[in-house]
Amino acid sequence: MKKRLFLTATAVAVAALGATSAMAQADTFKIGLILPLTGQQASTGKQIEAATRLYMAQNGVNMAGKKIELIIKDDGGIPDASKRIAQELVVNDKVNVLAGFGLTPIALAVAPIATQSKTPQVIMAAATSIITEASPYIIRTSFTIPQSAVAMADWAPKNGIKKVVTLVSDYGPGIDAERFFKDRLTFNGGQVIESLRVPLRGPDFAPFLQKVRDIKPDALFVFVPSGAGAAVMKQFLERGMDKAGIKLIGTGDLTDDDQLNDMGDGALNVVTSHHYSAAHPSALNKKFVDAFEKANKGLRPNFMAVGGYDGMRVIYEALRATKGAGGGDALLAAMKGQIFESPRGPMFIDAQTRDVVHNMYLRKVEKKDGKLYNVEFDVIKDMKDPGKTR
Ligand code: DHB
Repeated sequence: MKKRLFLTATAVAVAALGATSAMAQADTFKIGLILPLTGQQASTGKQIEAATRLYMAQNGVNMAGKKIELIIKDDGGIPDASKRIAQELVVNDKVNVLAGFGLTPIALAVAPIATQSKTPQVIMAAATSIITEASPYIIRTSFTIPQSAVAMADWAPKNGIKKVVTLVSDYGPGIDAERFFKDRLTFNGGQVIESLRVPLRGPDFAPFLQKVRDIKPDALFVFVPSGAGAAVMKQFLERGMDKAGIKLIGTGDLTDDDQLNDMGDGALNVVTSHHYSAAHPSALNKKFVDAFEKANKGLRPNFMAVGGYDGMRVIYEALRATKGAGGGDALLAAMKGQIFESPRGPMFIDAQTRDVVHNMYLRKVEKKDGKLYNVEFDVIKDMKDPGKTR
């Protein structure tokens, strides 16, 4: 009798506990943000974390009767760590959305977990074309490397650059950059005379740049991930390659706003193509840059920050549209097709591809108020990922 009473009491207590946590669960909307906050890609993590916090500070944490909770985890830029973290976030924390993903291999490692658990996976950084095809639950708010590479391959031959050597990081986005740049440049009557690949981890650019100096092309086209551009710039200038008449061009990752102002005047006049510049002349961007710098001791937002900021917008608006009542599929449906003004300019999530459609800008490094900026001088409007339309 006593035992039975005890059991009943325990059952009631357990049921009550269950009800409380279920209620807490029902009242909370959880975003699991997986970022490289340590290691080689740490600046990407720092930028995106700061941007997501800014978005929440500006827009509040209450939406559709839910309290939005951000759970931030550091994967150190290691795909196996991201995978384990994503699993824990889905199974233990029961997150509603997975977001972040600082490198392509990380986005790809987590994709099967998004698919199996029907959890939307918002790609805020990684940029290899194929990523959105790795899971039907992937939505991208960063950019695609083929967008940048093709824009540059259209600009270069019209501006006296015919013979080019490419230098890329040897993994997904680098291979995309090499291939899409070469195909388009060749189509436009130019020529890639040598293709060089450097390791992603701990690259030593010196021997590669020496080789480029010996070949002496019209230009060197570079893709390296965010955070590595300053090292390339330094070595390029130290070898006097600019003085030898070799132009430096690349995707905008090269003249990353996170590092640009510290690259020195040697970076002046370098032309790159990208979807975001901190100098983008719109009222919305000015507001974004000012607020970001104010909240982060003067840190200038880069394209990673914008991918994170817009990713939060897409998540918030999906929560609003589903009135807080939807599961992963409903959220995903509400993310598809969103169209809005980003600090980068107009932006659209293509409902078919779940990939970002936005402007690609040609930019030149110039000095404004004593600081180096990527100043936009031309635009290709509403560009889809060339990786999906070929
Ligand atoms: C990727 C990472 C970067 O830091 C970047 O600038 C572009 C692409 C990537 O791994 O996809």
